[in-house]
Amino acid sequence: MENLNIVPYLDIVPYPNSIRFFDSYTNLRAIDRRKSTNIISDEIVNPEAYRLQVKKDRFLITSGGEAGKFYAQQSLLQLVDSAKRNGGRIPLVEIVDEPAFEYRGFMIDSARHMIKVEDIKKLVDAAALLKLNVMHWHLTDDQGWRIEIESYPNLVRVGSVRNGSHFGHDHVDGEYSGYYTKAQLSEIVEYCAARHIRVIPEIDMPGHMIAAIASYPEVSCTGKQLEVESRQGIFPDILCAGKPETYQMIKSVLQEVMEIFPSQDIHIGGDEAPKKRWKECRHCQALIQRYRLNDEEELQGWFMNRIEEFLHENGRRAIVWNEALNSGLLNEGITVQMWMDRKKLSADFANTGGKVIISPFFHYYTDYPYGMTPLNKTYKFDPILRQINHDGADNVLGVEATVWTEHIRDFEKLSYMTYPRFAAVAETGWTFKANKDCEDFNRRLLTLLPMLKARGIEAADPRDWNPNLWRRLCETLGFYRKTLTKDMIFGYK
Ligand code: ACM
Ligand code: ZN
Repeated sequence: MENLNIVPYLDIVPYPNSIRFFDSYTNLRAIDRRKSTNIISDEIVNPEAYRLQVKKDRFLITSGGEAGKFYAQQSLLQLVDSAKRNGGRIPLVEIVDEPAFEYRGFMIDSARHMIKVEDIKKLVDAAALLKLNVMHWHLTDDQGWRIEIESYPNLVRVGSVRNGSHFGHDHVDGEYSGYYTKAQLSEIVEYCAARHIRVIPEIDMPGHMIAAIASYPEVSCTGKQLEVESRQGIFPDILCAGKPETYQMIKSVLQEVMEIFPSQDIHIGGDEAPKKRWKECRHCQALIQRYRLNDEEELQGWFMNRIEEFLHENGRRAIVWNEALNSGLLNEGITVQMWMDRKKLSADFANTGGKVIISPFFHYYTDYPYGMTPLNKTYKFDPILRQINHDGADNVLGVEATVWTEHIRDFEKLSYMTYPRFAAVAETGWTFKANKDCEDFNRRLLTLLPMLKARGIEAADPRDWNPNLWRRLCETLGFYRKTLTKDMIFGYK
């Protein structure tokens, strides 16, 4: 970078990777739109890369593909917005930019609480401004099935309705229901595609499936009629891995999922699946015997692999949460999303050629208060984990921020919790580590806030982003007092 003393920083988030400043300014009034150009060139190899030049009387954009063109426009939008607040004054610059990581995601949990289609669009608009390119959509869980599936109509008829929301000590009585129709899901997919965001749907299995089991009890080990969960936590009833009915239902569901979502990647969960029922189930035990598996963890690996093979036959790929690595036998080609991995299996996986997405619980889970996960902590996290070696680093596809919604019932709170922390993850996804600067990021955010607001996102107040130690302690204790129950700590029976 040149002449940093003249124009110290540009008001752009995520920060561009190479900026050449010329010692001069122009004014927006001097820009002639007719002289400005926006072209795609073979000379730029990466379709997400772009060059943006601000000249005396024009803007010139050259990009490697449609995505790069779009990202150049997002940078320019921010530059122009900032210029408008400075009497139209805009520095003469040349930005040459490309992302640090190919996967830059955000996840929303629509199972615990639904987010209205128009509100999802606001999140997508904000994400697009920040050059995020994946929306991971958690559509099913114990507490609700939110995706219309025609071949198994009870999934929404029964599975989308729960009696109360008793999450931790946070109790709301009354029925809670809702699901997205296929038309709505497709509308979101198209909305995202127009903004270079692909939508990765998640059907979480074999755990977190009580809404489906309540709809079709034959897919669980016990076959007992259960109710859609109204409590929070990890529950013992999961899909039976030994019954053909399970595979029939899942394949049928995924068939319809693939019809709605063109994404090559489909997330099939794999997290938090207790093995209690499998240990006691004759169907599951028969499968363990038949395939000479060592234990129920290996049975989960076997299960995930069968589902992955079905996706693969249909030209798709599977993503799983890191617990699926406990089996030690995942098929090649499965991508692992790291969220909570004390054994560091995800790092080993990356070091031995597996692709990983990094979503650390303690840094990127934005449903936790800022006191627990301050903005700067999110920002400073390095997705190339210490245990990942030089070769493994190439297998880190990128980063993803998440928002789980047990304790988030409305969009106002969702906006507050996600922003600006989603922006911190977006900058880590785009800006090379050497070009990141936490203090400057905080400063640039102040100029980003009105742009987020214009997109319907009321971000957290800057005073809340990085609380002092006392507030951190109070917010953390307060959150756990509100949310943790004995059952959540010691497990449900
Ligand atoms: C997860 O947070 N259970 C992936
Ligand atoms: Zn079973």
